[in-house]
Amino acid sequence: MSDITKSAAWTRLETAHARLRKQRTINLFDAAPSRAEDFSIEAAGLYLDYSKNRICADARAGLADLAVAADLAGAIGAMFAGEKINSTEGRAVLHVALRDFSSRAYKVGGADVAPLVAGERAKMKAFAQKYEARALTGFSGAPLDTLVNIGIGGSDLGPLMAVEALRPYWLDGKTAHFVSNVDGQHLADTLEKADPARTLFIIASKTFTTQETMTNAESARRWFLENGGTQKDIAGHFVALSTNEAAVREFGVAPENMFGFWDWVGGRYSMWSAIGLSIALQCGWDAFEAMLKGAHAMDAHFASAPIGENMPAMLALVGLWNRNFEGAAAHAVLPYDQHLHRLPAYLQQLDMESNGKSVMKNGARVNCATGPVIFGEPGTNGQHAFYQLIHQGTDIVSSDFIAAANSAAPVGDHHEKLLANFLAQTEALMLGKSEADVRAELAAGGADAGAIDALAPHRTFAGDRPTNSILMERLTPQTLGALVALYEHKVFCQGVLWGVNSFDQWGVELGKALAKEILPEIAGAGRSDPPRKNHDASTRRLIEKINSLRAR
Ligand code: F6P
Repeated sequence: MSDITKSAAWTRLETAHARLRKQRTINLFDAAPSRAEDFSIEAAGLYLDYSKNRICADARAGLADLAVAADLAGAIGAMFAGEKINSTEGRAVLHVALRDFSSRAYKVGGADVAPLVAGERAKMKAFAQKYEARALTGFSGAPLDTLVNIGIGGSDLGPLMAVEALRPYWLDGKTAHFVSNVDGQHLADTLEKADPARTLFIIASKTFTTQETMTNAESARRWFLENGGTQKDIAGHFVALSTNEAAVREFGVAPENMFGFWDWVGGRYSMWSAIGLSIALQCGWDAFEAMLKGAHAMDAHFASAPIGENMPAMLALVGLWNRNFEGAAAHAVLPYDQHLHRLPAYLQQLDMESNGKSVMKNGARVNCATGPVIFGEPGTNGQHAFYQLIHQGTDIVSSDFIAAANSAAPVGDHHEKLLANFLAQTEALMLGKSEADVRAELAAGGADAGAIDALAPHRTFAGDRPTNSILMERLTPQTLGALVALYEHKVFCQGVLWGVNSFDQWGVELGKALAKEILPEIAGAGRSDPPRKNHDASTRRLIEKINSLRAR
């Protein structure tokens, strides 16, 4: 690992950027007639067009040099080889093993983990097939047909996003709910709709110690016991997805109802493991397996394609260009697909928890900006909310536009309109609108000189706002798997380039620890005269205010 800002490639990129920043992106198309083709990559059922970013062939060559300086190819090899690349936790990072159905070995500490993966997958498959066949019955003898997944972060966002994305694949008569927030309203609102006799609770937690999940799990168990279930019925209504067998047993879930995974599966990379059980139950095993295979197709491409033709690597390099050279501190994810409405939230964790870091693996401070703020909404909704800032705000925001050429639910000409908007936005963001054009348009519309002078600055768009377009034939389990794997590997590549560890998340620990310390100070059931700790004055006053409001 080296500091890329000290490399010759970085200097080359600074020179390229000084030249390019005076140019219009559209002129790069005039200079290179095959640009749209040259700046696009097709892999695993996805088509990426990155030609609407302000980079030229020379800048792209500089980015490829940067990948060499960071030994990106070596890092990809190290990940697939099971090396302990999560250095602060001493762990391998092998989510790719979870979606490989070949006989290839994946070694962790010398031992092949592929048989473990296959074994757990077989157990999940058998369980999912029983659920699909309505052969899992509850305490009343009725089949279980409603699942409540209790988890948070990686144990919630991936499965929830995928279940929403695969709505057309939902099995008849099955319902899935996801409870994540420790706000009791989330659980209460969900259970209001559930019939305990037909409900399967899935407690999803890698560590099985997360406060939110364990609190929700205990309250769900209490609700179950108060609503017809007995202690002996828990075995048939509660399953656990975890790496922590002892804690699962202590909670009261029998080992046969536990689906395991391993420390080399990061929380935000875990939807392919047992954590994806809710996807398999709601959409059927075949859809879950197809999703894994779609991800594997992207893995195979990622592991073998040269950097310049490697979709995740190029997405990462272009993202780095926008972040470090164009100054884009925020990146929008804009799926033109309602079923992908949870993708931005999922990618927030994937990207921001992975690369929201300011020290390199060797402990030295980074010398350049790292992960951007990720946000987004489905198009076209976002167009009527925050796109204004992307078009005309003072900051550069880069964006990914994602669409399927065909709809899973064609209604009239909705999809044509959706696609027209998908295309119009990236074109508008790149082209902008010159003042001369605005003036001519206003004059043609009959505006007088005064009105033209007053309106022209407001109606002028600078353009050159960088976008990627990601296109697929349709959103299927395969293309969803490939899309998620694309982003996982993009994030990995950027982590390697910036020299950070993308697989730890120490930043979230401090808040967790403080919340535990503050808990006894909040006046609540059975607690009065809460102890005072040495807080800052603001926090102390807020605690007092909360407690006085709760005392009324
Ligand atoms: O927010 C921190 C975090 O550790 C995430 O990385 C993880 O996905 C989430 O908490 C949930 O953790 P667990 O699956 O162990 O409950």
